[in-house]
Amino acid sequence: MEKQVMRAVELTAFGGPEVLRLGERALPVAGAGELLIRVAASGINRPDVLQRKGHYAPPPGASDLPGLEVAGVVVSGDEAAMAEAGLRVGDRVCALLAGGGYAEYCVAPVAQCLPVPQGLDDVQAAALPETFFTVWSNVFDRGALKAGETLLVQGGSSGIGVTAIQLAKARGATVIVTAGSDAKCAECVALGADHAINYRSQDFAEEVRRITAGKGVDVILDMVAGGYVAREVQILAEDGRLVIIAVQGGVQAEFDAGLVLRRRLVVTGSTLRPRPVAFKGAIAQALRREVWPLIEAGSIRPVIHSTFAAADADKAHALMESSQHTGKIVLTW
Ligand SMILES: NC(=O)c1ccc[n+]([C@@H]2O[C@H](COP(=O)([O-])OP(=O)(O)OC[C@H]3O[C@@H](n4cnc5c(N)ncnc54)[C@H](OP(=O)(O)O)[C@@H]3O)[C@@H](O)[C@H]2O)c1
Repeated sequence: MEKQVMRAVELTAFGGPEVLRLGERALPVAGAGELLIRVAASGINRPDVLQRKGHYAPPPGASDLPGLEVAGVVVSGDEAAMAEAGLRVGDRVCALLAGGGYAEYCVAPVAQCLPVPQGLDDVQAAALPETFFTVWSNVFDRGALKAGETLLVQGGSSGIGVTAIQLAKARGATVIVTAGSDAKCAECVALGADHAINYRSQDFAEEVRRITAGKGVDVILDMVAGGYVAREVQILAEDGRLVIIAVQGGVQAEFDAGLVLRRRLVVTGSTLRPRPVAFKGAIAQALRREVWPLIEAGSIRPVIHSTFAAADADKAHALMESSQHTGKIVLTW
């Protein structure tokens, strides 16, 4: 018998990490096409920090609790949808959520759940969904990165970056990253990046031109935008694709539009959270087919920087904002 009340990390206001507090909530109820998970671990992502500051509201219908990914055990759910997905009560799953992950129990659409890859513990599994769904959707679907092409990842040591490095290498691309320190650059290279550029001490555009002997890169995964866009457009190869997934450097960008036509460039981007369940479900199927075997074989691994008890979510957020981490920060219950 499951309990009726759960612990959850709530936002008591918008503001600094101190607005995160452990409180009590009624258990959420799984509706049609959904299941209820007893959460063992909850991944932290930079969008949670934006939500905490009041800059990233949950989409309509989503939980007001933060948290975009969890791992745990299925406790109940829509039996027909679960049967169709091959899931049963008691299965270990990880799930992509539109919110509600910072809690002992959460509801997830069955289509957004994946089995925990063999050999992974709960913390490792909770660190998978948000970055793997985002990177797959943006680098391989929108960006159409192919084997033999070159990818530039801005922010290679981020949760997103460590996933992008490993996925792109596993699929036969050359990977260049930027990171904010020499130590982080070394960690990115250890993860498989072919080249790492310290963006604080080097000009990334000059370095990319040097590394690619003037040809440029085929795809850029950009989480900075702002003043980066002008230089990014300059270092895209013919038919290159710029994929913007965040605007940490600002939303305004001025760039040479003539390059877009002369080199046939694509400037695109997306944000995963508000997309429909069917869209996310299709990514889940692609990940299960193309990526889960690589994780189970050990050729791609989640990169865990640190874990915190859920009651210390404020410390976990402070660490993320300090940018001292490489890879993922995870809460445990
Ligand atoms: N569009 C979507 O669907 C989607 C989904 C998930 C996440 N995101 C976004 O993706 C980004 C990464 O998320 P995360 O959870 O992985 O966060 P994270 O681990 O906190 O990483 C943030 C990264 O931004 C890098 N960065 C900041 N300023 C930079 C600059 N001027 N040049 C290069 N890199 C810079 C940091 O690099 P240093 O630490 O080396 O300075 C750090 O690696 C966030 O902006 C997040 O909002 C978007």
